[in-house]
Amino acid sequence: MKFIIKENYDEVAEAANEEMRRILTSADSLTIGLATGSSPIGLYKLMAKDNAEGITDFTKVTTFNLDEYIGLPTDHPETYRNFMNKNLFNQININLNKTHLPYASDKNDKNSCEEYEKMLNNYQLDVQLLGIGSNGHIGFNEPGSSFSSNTHIVELTEKTRNDNQRFFASLDEVPTHAITMGIASIMRAKEIILIACGENKAQAIYEMANVAKTEEIPATILQNHPNVICIVDKDAASKL
Ligand code: F6R
Repeated sequence: MKFIIKENYDEVAEAANEEMRRILTSADSLTIGLATGSSPIGLYKLMAKDNAEGITDFTKVTTFNLDEYIGLPTDHPETYRNFMNKNLFNQININLNKTHLPYASDKNDKNSCEEYEKMLNNYQLDVQLLGIGSNGHIGFNEPGSSFSSNTHIVELTEKTRNDNQRFFASLDEVPTHAITMGIASIMRAKEIILIACGENKAQAIYEMANVAKTEEIPATILQNHPNVICIVDKDAASKL
C-alpha cells in the first residue's frame, strides 16, 4: 500500500488526476471503476478538463460504479446515476451506454445483483477508484461485510446515514438500503486508487493501514491487494 500525502483537497485531486491520466493515456480501451461522494468531485473536474483539452479520450472507455441507493425516484438529484452524469459523464466524451451503475428496485432484488456481477465479470477493471467511509467502509460494504462478497444489497449503518445526511433535507430522507459492488468484486481490479480528506477520515485511514485484517473494518482488506495507492490530505493522514 503506497501513500501519497498532500496538503489539502485540491492537491489530492491533482495527484489523483495524475494517476488517472497515466492510466487513461496508457491504452484506448479501458475499464474503470468509479465512486461517488465528496471525495472524487475535484478529481472529476480535472478529468473533465483533461478531456476538454484533448489529453484523454473516453470514447472506448467503459465504467462501472461502486454503488447506488435503493428507493430514490430516478429523477432525485442524489441518485448516484444523476451524480455521475452531472459531475463526470456529461462533461466528457464518453458513450453513456458504456457507463454502468448497479440498480435495485427494492431491498429484495437479488436478480439485479446477479446481473451486475455477471456484467462486471465480462470485464477486467483496470483501476477502481475508492473513497472510504468514516467507519472504514469501501463501496457500501459496511463493517461486518464478508471479504468474499460479490454485488449485494446492504442495510446502511446509522453512521453512514448520518454522514450522508448532508446531501438530503433530513435524516428521514436518507435511504436505508443500497446496492453495492462486493469486496471480492473490488479486489479483482488490477489497481486501486483510494482518496480521502479531512480529520473525520483519520481513524479509518489509520486502521486501514495498521489494524490486522478484519471484516469489522472493510478497508483492511486492501492490505492484501498488490497495487493500492492511497492519496490523502494531511488531516486524513494525521493518525498514521
Ligand atoms: C461512494 C462510496 C462510498 C464513499 C464513502 C466516502 O460511491 O462507495 O464508499 O466513497 O462513503 O464518501 P465521501 O467521499 O462523501 O466522504
